[in-house]
Amino acid sequence: MARAMGLALMNENAWRRSVNHTCRRRVTLPCGRYGTMLASALALLLSQAHPFDDVARVLLHPRCVNCHPAGEAPLQTDASRPHHQNVTRRIEALGTRCTACHLPNAPQGPGLPPSAAEWKMPRADLPLVFQGRTPAQLCHQLKDPAQNGNLTPEAMLEHLTHDPRVVWSFAPGPGRALPPLTHARFLEVFSAWLQLGQPCPTEAPQAPQTKRPPNTPRQR
Ligand code: HEC
Ligand code: HEC
Repeated sequence: MARAMGLALMNENAWRRSVNHTCRRRVTLPCGRYGTMLASALALLLSQAHPFDDVARVLLHPRCVNCHPAGEAPLQTDASRPHHQNVTRRIEALGTRCTACHLPNAPQGPGLPPSAAEWKMPRADLPLVFQGRTPAQLCHQLKDPAQNGNLTPEAMLEHLTHDPRVVWSFAPGPGRALPPLTHARFLEVFSAWLQLGQPCPTEAPQAPQTKRPPNTPRQR
């Protein structure tokens, strides 16, 4: 590892290529899915990016943020504008369901209501806010049983693999931007993050109140 760090200083790109190459050759091929996860975890550990970065990039994409807003209203479009017709999570109390418009198996297109089974936003008492959160905040939120609905990491991986709304987000049809990673790649980086013990990034150094004490190594 120390030798690898030295090499990284000399020529980071060549070093990264050789790490990727080594992992693919020695780990992925013989060990199948587990090997792929291990290789992803290793590649992440040895790369400059923080293992949570790619997870956060997906969570903060409009396809996810639009149902995980900071306020009471779901958001719409790639610009994440508040939902038209004053739709908020309170409409259910007034007798209208999201699925009155968001019918499963309806035709998909720009301006049409997206369609996936059980279209709704998280409950008010467990709001799972993604909008406006920093990667560090998102990371701690996902790990906190009080904020994630008591989910084990395995249950969360299961949710992210099969939940119909998550599946829709990665294939939203015409007129809507795709998240930065494919669903398969997202599951890979999420599993790799779990394998590494769910490490969280530190806050961005420019945040005014959070001064890093001297000698604290940067994590990213
Ligand atoms: C149509 C709205 C909708 C969309 C789009 C959506 N979610 Fe969710 N999400 C929910 C709801 C509702 C819950 C609360 C749990 C439940 O009801 O299954 C939830 C829960 C979660 C949870 C917590 C796990 C749990 O079961 O409590 C995670 C993590 C999550 N979503 C991630 C995502 C990601 C990542 C995307 C985008 C790829 C996304 N969501 C897109 C509605 C949505
Ligand atoms: C009166 C019909 C109607 C109701 C009721 C309704 N929606 Fe919508 N919704 C739409 C339409 C139409 C669009 C498409 C708007 C667009 O993309 O320009 C939409 C888009 C959305 C989007 C944007 C998806 C994306 O990423 O592009 C979300 C999220 C959403 N609705 C959530 C909800 C939730 C949650 C509820 C219930 C609390 C709800 N909607 C109730 C009609 C409705």
